[in-house]
Amino acid sequence: MTKSPDVQELIVVTGASSGIGAATAQEMARRGYHVLAGVRREQDARDIQGPNIEPVLIDITHPDDIAALAQRIDTDPPGRALRAVVNNAGIGTNAPVEVFDLDAWRKLFEVNYFGHIAVTQKLLPALLRSKGRVINISSVGGRIAMATYGPYAGAKFALEALSDSLRRELAPSGVDVVVIEPGAVQTKISGRAIAVANNVAAAMTPEQTERYGALIHAVTAQAAAADKTGAKASVAANVVVRAITSRRPRTRYGVGREAALLGLMSLLPDKVIDWLLTAVLRRYLPKAGAEEAKPLS
Ligand SMILES: NC(=O)c1ccc[n+]([C@@H]2O[C@H](COP(=O)([O-])OP(=O)(O)OC[C@H]3O[C@@H](n4cnc5c(N)ncnc54)[C@H](OP(=O)(O)O)[C@@H]3O)[C@@H](O)[C@H]2O)c1
Repeated sequence: MTKSPDVQELIVVTGASSGIGAATAQEMARRGYHVLAGVRREQDARDIQGPNIEPVLIDITHPDDIAALAQRIDTDPPGRALRAVVNNAGIGTNAPVEVFDLDAWRKLFEVNYFGHIAVTQKLLPALLRSKGRVINISSVGGRIAMATYGPYAGAKFALEALSDSLRRELAPSGVDVVVIEPGAVQTKISGRAIAVANNVAAAMTPEQTERYGALIHAVTAQAAAADKTGAKASVAANVVVRAITSRRPRTRYGVGREAALLGLMSLLPDKVIDWLLTAVLRRYLPKAGAEEAKPLS
């Protein structure tokens, strides 16, 4: 079901400077919604601005930014309804549990988990008024935690649980809560995550490099390869749009073939999943004789 462009309602998309968020903002605007597109820099605001797209400066770890966004919605001059909040902002990394700095781990959770809670809490009064929708962008990493995905998948698993709980709490109020689980999508996140992983690898002790160097090499090589074959951001955005506009949305939507495969895989016994993931990763391990822990540049 597509809304008529003359019936404008508000949509919030966090992390709209690039990737899935930018594509979602553009597609919803094209369909006639008024999109409040969350970005963190003035330059990104200028870049995303366009017909039906109003940039808002918001870092989801900054309570003042979130309060200003809530105020913007509550005092919307035409008094438009808030149709959906797309909790999309996110950061990635690959790091073994033993070596990932706890402060960095907390920062990742501040963005990928607590930030979404803060935005949702603050915008919930408006969503309750309009019987709007919460769309949480999770990941296949919210279903399966591959080696080195402890920090990222930990936050995504938490977001999945939060979404289930919230959906059950809000069902009587008519507010739907929908989870999107993309597999690989061609955006900036993969390159950014690989850069963090390389820094993590560079800071490891010789013993840690012995334990995890080849593993980090393999997962970053796998992520780089998946990024090349991943879905376009517009494909993911179309799934988000469906979640916002369907009369009866599903509770979860996958994006791409990888999401379907990993979703099925998550139903297998743990030991079988371990074996399969190890087998898939093997082809990305450094070749014998090569510099074992050399990170990707
Ligand atoms: N691409 C994939 O393969 C994939 C797969 C599964 C799930 N996802 C999920 O999809 C979502 C979007 O990611 P993407 O792939 O489109 O990556 P992306 O292009 O890197 O976009 C991430 C967005 O999040 C923003 N962001 C980061 N920290 C923020 C903060 N503290 N406050 C507000 N915004 C912040 C970034 O803004 P700046 O430019 O200012 O940093 C950027 O706009 C994420 O939740 C990600 O986990 C992606």
